This record gives sequence, structure tokens and C-alpha cells, in this order.
Amino acid sequence: MSLSTVDAPNRARATGYGRKPSTHDATMTEVGPGTPLGEFMRRYWHPVALSEKVKDIPQKLRLLGEDLVIFRDRQGRPGLLHARCAHRGTTLYYGRVEENGIRCCYHGWLFDVEGRCLEQPCEADGGRSRDRVIQPWYPLQERYGLVWAYMGPPDKQPLLPHWDTLEAVSPGEKIYVTGSSFGAGGDDTIEIVPCNWLQDWENIMDPFHIPILHTSFSGVQFVPEFGVMPQVHWEHAPTGMQYTAYRKLDDGREVDRVTLALFPHVRIVPSVQLAPGPAMGIGWVVPVDDTNFRLFHAMRVPEGFNGMPRLPGKKWSEKSEEEHQRFPGDWEAQVGQGPISLHSEENLAGSDKGIVMLRRLLKQQIKIVEEGGDPLGVIYDPAQQVMKVSAGNFFKT
Ligand code: FES
Ligand SMILES: [Fe+2]
Repeated sequence: MSLSTVDAPNRARATGYGRKPSTHDATMTEVGPGTPLGEFMRRYWHPVALSEKVKDIPQKLRLLGEDLVIFRDRQGRPGLLHARCAHRGTTLYYGRVEENGIRCCYHGWLFDVEGRCLEQPCEADGGRSRDRVIQPWYPLQERYGLVWAYMGPPDKQPLLPHWDTLEAVSPGEKIYVTGSSFGAGGDDTIEIVPCNWLQDWENIMDPFHIPILHTSFSGVQFVPEFGVMPQVHWEHAPTGMQYTAYRKLDDGREVDRVTLALFPHVRIVPSVQLAPGPAMGIGWVVPVDDTNFRLFHAMRVPEGFNGMPRLPGKKWSEKSEEEHQRFPGDWEAQVGQGPISLHSEENLAGSDKGIVMLRRLLKQQIKIVEEGGDPLGVIYDPAQQVMKVSAGNFFKT
């Protein structure tokens, strides 16, 4: 057989040559001030830190592409200010926390947690015009052991959502919070995941990666039952969407696994051990900037609970490069899509129906904000403040 006969069919097929430049979809990935998604995100409260970690030493915090510092003044009030001092721009990260706020190290201007300039020690009378200066600041609230920030238009500030599952703490239980990358397949020693937030959030509506990535490809990362290919139904939920993954297990049991993705970046994933019953925790995929995100989780747990159960084997940060290649998890898959996934290159298939729905819903909500409306999940009515969580592993009896 001549070489040309063998190669002929392949030669007619497209190769990697001559492709158009690849692009990401900016509408659903870029979070800076003034961007469509950034303005949408700025209509909600975001968890930004664990309360217990906000102390009288300022910490750097990058959020929705803005560089901030967070601290707790000596009266116990948390403060979130732009990092660059309103005087001549050094960072308040080197500032000193005092009774009434934070004092810039450079010329000693003192700002309170609402950005008021209280003192300008180099100016006559402590600064006669100091009232004209505002250090950009954002309002904070604390609940569930988390500090929450609102970075949007002041006249649109909504109520902080309450979550039924986190409100129902009984004696012998507590709320456990974490700000680590554990839930993204990292571990409890790492906070920032280096890729766009959407790669994590839309993963919540992708039940088909569970039998592959988490069960057959890398060995059983959760439980062997997830190896059964599910029958999946995706549908709208009151403030987002959900899927029900039905499995008939080898032992004859049948289970519906219901998982939710709610606006703007809430993820409610039931027990990955397939423990029966409703989901006990809520997660939030908070965009740090366009190419990094951070996860926060709050869970109702027994009093003695002391940290997330470890996946079998080593922590993510202890694995060698070869181990990351041989046993990839969510981190490798999501970060492996690149800093921002290139949507123009995708070939979406039937099992991506949830991804398609979620993106469409997200774009609808972004458009609502652009047109001056209120997106889903923004609450002003105290009667609607408690969000119901319908996720869980529901076994049929
Ligand atoms: S730069 Fe902060 S007080 Fe001068
Ligand atoms: Fe996963």
C-alpha cells in the first residue's frame, strides 16, 4: 500500500493549523468595576473572610478585581477599605489599627471603617478640610462566622440572605466555616484557586464529571457508587438552577442527588460520601479577579466536628507533579482549563445541558442588571430573607 493512499483521508481533515484566535466570553467571566458581570456581582453580598481571622493587623484582600485591606478596629468593628491611601497612595496594609480605625503609616491620616478621615496630623488643626476626603470603603456584616461585603451601589444594598439549613442549628451542633480550596479539589492549606470563578461554579451543574474524573479516571475520590452513570434532569430553581441525578445502585437502592447553583455564585453540593438527607452546607465561589477565585463554605456540623474529611491519600499540596497527572481532581480539571477558559474552542455536547442552561440564565440576569432591574437572589423583603435549600441525597425507600 502506498503511503499516499494511507494518508489521503487524514490529509483532508482539519489540523491545528490556521485556526482563528481563541477567545473567552468576557460577559460571564470578567468581574472588574464597570463590566457587565462585575456590576451584576456588585448587587450581592459576598463572603470575604472568616470572622475569627479579621483582627487588628490589616490583611490584603483582592475582590472582584479591587485591591482592599480588611481589619478590625479596637472597638471590634470590621473594616474593608481600598488598599491605596486616599492621601498619596501608599498601602494601608502597613497601616496601624487603632480604637477608631486604621492609621496610614506614611503621614498618619486616620480613617474609620466607613472611610471618614478623622485625623491629618501634618495639617494645621489636624486637617481643617479632612471631611472632604473619603477613603473608598465597603459595608460589612458578620453572620455564620463569615464577614460579608457589599461592593455595589449604596441605594441598591439588599438584605444579607439567611439560609434555612444554617439557621437550624440545634443543641449539639455548630456552624463550621472554611475559606480553603478544599472544595475545589485543593486542600485546607491553600486559599486562592488560580482560574476564573465560572470554571468552578458551572462545574456544579456538571454531574457527568463525577463518574469519570472522581471515580474511574483517578480512582474512587468520593464513593464507588458514583461510578454508576446517572440519569440527569436539569431545571430552574427559584434563584438559580438545579439538577437531579438519579442512580440505581448495584445493591438495588435508588437515589436522587439534587445539587444547586444559585445566583450569584452559590454552590450547594450534598454529601460527597452520599450520606442520605439534605445538604448541610452552603458554598460560595467568590471571584478574586478575572483569573482567580476563592471558596467559602459554611456547614452545620456536630459540635465535635473538627475540619473537613480528607480525601484518600495525600493533600493536594503534598502531591508530586506526576501524582497530579496520574490522579487529577477538580483542581487539575478546572485550573487545567486555563486562567479563563477559551469558550470559542468548546464543543458542547448533550451532557453539557446544565452548563448551557446556567450560562444562559447568568447572561439573562446580567442583562437585567444592565437594564436597571434587580437580579434573582437579591432580596429586599425581610419576609423572603431566608433561602430554602432543597439539595440533598434522597434515597427512595
Ligand atoms: S499616603 Fe497615607 S497618609 Fe500620606
Ligand atoms: Fe468535582
